[in-house]
Amino acid sequence: MTHLVLAPMEGLVDWRVRQLLSTTGGFDLCVTEFIRVSQNLFPAHVFHRYCPELLNGGKTLSGVPVLVQLMGHDPELMGENAAFATTLGAPGIDINFGCPSKTVNKREAGASLLKCPDNLFHIVSAVRRAVPADIPVSAKVRLGFSDKELFLDIARAVEAGGAQHLTVHARTKLEGYKPPAHWEYLARIREAISIGMTGNGEIWDVADYEKCRDISGCDSFMIGRGAIAAPDLANRIKAFEGGAHVPKQSWADVLAMLLAYCDLMDLDGAPEHHQAGRIKQWMALIRKSHAQGATCFDEIKRINAIDDLRAKLCHDMSLPENQQQDVPIAAE
Ligand SMILES: Cc1cc2nc3c(=O)[nH]c(=O)nc-3n(C[C@H](O)[C@H](O)[C@H](O)COP(=O)(O)O)c2cc1C
Repeated sequence: MTHLVLAPMEGLVDWRVRQLLSTTGGFDLCVTEFIRVSQNLFPAHVFHRYCPELLNGGKTLSGVPVLVQLMGHDPELMGENAAFATTLGAPGIDINFGCPSKTVNKREAGASLLKCPDNLFHIVSAVRRAVPADIPVSAKVRLGFSDKELFLDIARAVEAGGAQHLTVHARTKLEGYKPPAHWEYLARIREAISIGMTGNGEIWDVADYEKCRDISGCDSFMIGRGAIAAPDLANRIKAFEGGAHVPKQSWADVLAMLLAYCDLMDLDGAPEHHQAGRIKQWMALIRKSHAQGATCFDEIKRINAIDDLRAKLCHDMSLPENQQQDVPIAAE
């Protein structure tokens, strides 16, 4: 049975997106945006800000578990924060070794740690030691920093550190987010380790999923930008695995989801410019999956008042079906 994970995405996948996408269906697991651990043990309210699901047993409202992701270079401090997160109800801890940010990497965290797999071993071991044995610890890595020479050492270090699971974004830090993702490396890592593994990178539609599955041999996949571009992608992948073809969500359904996102932002008083920014950011990715997204993005990109933005989305939703007709962009 295919296992699908909604990728952590700082500034993009917050609790609201997790709620909407896990309700849409298909996802088995979510991961929070990274919490940067650099100097101290965070108080509870910081963990609750990143992961309000902790107040709901560590699950989204539709029951999908949410791992708390930590990123840092100090093994003991990472362990302390991980242990505290589990006392707050985190169902698992994920460690970020993939962040390409220059600021983060200058401070020896994120992807820069991949240059020396021993770093990974020490951090994973400390977190594993600090967290109760029944709480899973996982790590998310890339294939390397500037080249792929250490890709197997990286995976083995995570396993030796005692992690239960490894997620591999199939690119180096230097490759950033540029296609392609090197799915063939996932197969080689899978053969070299015995812990569970999730493949990640460049799954934008069902055809990509099928190709990634066949090349990597994985049965667990993490989807990031593709799931924002097409919020029902996980559902369609699950249906495909079950032998069914489910048509892509209609444009009206996409707009309804964006309006629901506005409501959730309103609920906890997010500032207006922030709300508008998030909708535009989401629409920018939707362009990759829905033809109407491009026109809509052009029409909303200069709108900063959230009420005007809502009015525009409502107006488009009320257009007759034939004016909402989608032209598929990705062949499936
Ligand atoms: C805007 C953005 C923010 C991200 N933030 C995180 C993060 O907080 N933690 C993490 O492990 N990966 C983060 N990533 C990486 C994604 O989780 C994922 O590995 C990457 O986007 C590749 O998957 P995709 O091709 O399906 O998008 C981020 C990616 C993007 C584009």
